[in-house]
Parts: sequence; structure tokens; C-alpha cells
Amino acid sequence: MIFRELNHGKCKTYLIACKNTRKAVLVDPIREKVDRYLSFLAYHGLKLEDVIDTHSHADHRTATFELNDLTGCSVIMHRQAPAPHVDIHVEDGETVTVGDIAIKILHTPGHTPDGISLFLKDRVLTGDTLLIRGTGRCDFAGGDPGAEFDSITQKLFDLPDETLVFPAHDYRGNTHSTIGEEKRLNPRVSGRARQDYIDLMNNLGLPLPEKIQEVLQPNQSALEDDRIAFPTLAELNQVRQLTPEEVQGLLTISSPPLLLDVREPEEYTGELGHIAGSMLIPLKNLPARAGELETYKDRHIVAICRAGVRSTTAAAILTGLGFEQITNLKGGMVEWNDRGLPVKH
Ligand SMILES: [Fe+2]
Repeated sequence: MIFRELNHGKCKTYLIACKNTRKAVLVDPIREKVDRYLSFLAYHGLKLEDVIDTHSHADHRTATFELNDLTGCSVIMHRQAPAPHVDIHVEDGETVTVGDIAIKILHTPGHTPDGISLFLKDRVLTGDTLLIRGTGRCDFAGGDPGAEFDSITQKLFDLPDETLVFPAHDYRGNTHSTIGEEKRLNPRVSGRARQDYIDLMNNLGLPLPEKIQEVLQPNQSALEDDRIAFPTLAELNQVRQLTPEEVQGLLTISSPPLLLDVREPEEYTGELGHIAGSMLIPLKNLPARAGELETYKDRHIVAICRAGVRSTTAAAILTGLGFEQITNLKGGMVEWNDRGLPVKH
């Protein structure tokens, strides 16, 4: 196996390649380094099969969609990843193969709901869930400290102690650690009870990542940041979230809300289907097409997407345009399907 970290910075991009078949995968590639990745692959005679994002990133633009466009490689993310144009959605326990290499997917939510770790025999890429002597923050983008504690203590710490740990970030110049070392020495989790961990993580008081406004929603929606004026995090937080059951209940009342699906057309008719009677306006077209919704300005609109993230952006945009009653389907069509509610294809 060829295994390299290619950025030599605080954000880590790992290349994993099979020596026999020359097939390669890049994990967490960043936009500014695309030329470097392509040069490295060409020089070493490697073919990029897949790109994997361990989660939706808030601190750098992902290069996955650009690499897919340039090379035809498949984009792989967890099933709960909000972005469109993900070719392969993976779930806990599945295996991705790259030539002779098997990569086992561990769903390790907490930093984000779509967080995965990648386990390869002697090593594990832990994304931003478990860092070296640290853990990923849980204070935005659907973060959940309790879920993170469970991911670390029940899934990652269940791996053999000698397993090498390669995180997606390191701010202190470390390259790797081991599961055993982190069990003993990680100050956030070692010897700490679950509730203590939740209290600790809820009170870190960290400033938001510098570029969050320019990267998080564009990554979550696979859109260029200059195509759309994205709402602020504060505006997103104000969007009222409805559970699938609450939305289902509203459909039976005498004046039901308008269901506004903001996914791409291929998702609307894709495997998750859509809710009968919903109107399709993809997020990227919403500012230009908001006029079509004029008659609903003072009526209830429920925004819908894949995982409930892009639609929260849509709901905040419409609120900003003067729409008065916009709510969001929490968890999107993934959750709607998981609850066994009716869909049309
Ligand atoms: Fe992250």
C-alpha cells in the first residue's frame, strides 16, 4: 500500500493507493491543492478511483466535486451527507475497495452527523471525530457531543490499541498517534464520563472557524459561494425545524403547507423519492425563482432536501426575502424514508 499525507499543513489529505493495481483514493482533498494532487498521481502512475470526504467541512472548500469533474472519480460520503452529486453513499460497516485494499467505514458522528472514520487493518483515519490529544468541536453544523463521545469510546476505542490514528486535522505538528495512546493520554476523553464530556464540549467557547461563511454552506450544497448569497449561521439557527411526523400531520389539515423541495432534479426522482405534491425548485435557482412563490408569501411553506441542511439554507433565504412562515423538514428525505413515510418516485 502507498500511504501519504499530501498537504503538510493543519488540514490533512491522505492518499491511499494499491501498489499492484495503481488504483488510488484521496481522503479529504482541499480545493487549493488540486494541481498538486493531480501532479502527484500522474508522476506516480496512479489512477484516482474515488475521493472520500470524512464529513462536510467547515474550514476549507472540498476538492471532491472538482476532482470528480476533472478525473471522473467517484465521490464517496456518508448517507447523511447533505450535498448533492455524491456518487456513493456509505453506511456503518460497509467496505470500500481500492484495488487490493479494503477500507472499512465506521460511522462516527458527533463533530457532524455525517462523520465517518476509515479503518484499514493497521490504521484508522478518524476525520475530525478523534484528533491527536483532542476531539472535533461539536458546536455547529449539527454537532452532538454525546454522539461524539459514543463514537470515540465505543467505536474507535474498540479498535486494537496498536492501531495507528491519522486525523483530518492537527494544529500542533503531530503526524499520527495510536488508539492506545489516545485512550491513555487524550485529555478530553481519558477517564471522563459521558456527561462530563458533554459539559466540557458545550463550554469550550471557541470562535467560529474563520472561513465558515465562505465554505460550510457551499460544501454542503456543492455550490460556488458567489452564485448565491448564503444566510449567516444565526439566520440558519432561527429556522424552525419540524420532525417528519409533524410534517406528515400537517398534510392532512384543510389548508396544508406548500412542500418546497430544493434538491436537484435527479435527486427528486432518485432513490429517496419525494413527497407527493411537493414543488421542485433547486437551491441554486431559488433566489431567481422566488417570484414563483409570491402567492405563498404569508402562507406556510416547508422546505425539504436530502438531509435537511440545504433546505435550512433555503428556508433562511426565503425568510430574508420576506416570506413569513417557512419551516424545515428536519433530517430531510433521508429521515423521512427511515421513518417509513410515503414517497413518490
Ligand atoms: Fe471538520
